[in-house]
Amino acid sequence: MACASSKLAPSAANLPVMQQRVPGITIERVQGGFALYKVKCAACHRLYAPSKYTLAEWNDILKKMFRKAKVTDASQQASIKDYVYALSK
Ligand code: HEC
Repeated sequence: MACASSKLAPSAANLPVMQQRVPGITIERVQGGFALYKVKCAACHRLYAPSKYTLAEWNDILKKMFRKAKVTDASQQASIKDYVYALSK
């Protein structure tokens, strides 16, 4: 698990690539989203790598998964979105 989640951890070295997907995103913002992702999104299945899906695919998946994970808070949703979008396919 430690191994799997470290692979999913955002790295500052990738910030320029992440900013192509989410303009202006900071490393603190991506790390905050990752922390929340680990708390909210691993209860029913392993954590999926953000790079498995495109941004558009994530957009659809998250609509459904926020419901399942009972993430209703708009700022928490935005934080998780920014993390997966930044590291999407
Ligand atoms: C209450 C259980 C539960 C929680 C919590 C949950 N999921 Fe899921 N997730 C599922 C189930 C069940 C499936 C498989 C079938 C489906 O799509 O309903 C799934 C499938 C997925 C898939 C694969 C979708 C695909 O189309 O192949 C992804 C990606 C995913 N979840 C991401 C997330 C994320 C991100 C979160 C946190 C916001 C999350 N899940 C939280 C139950 C959950």
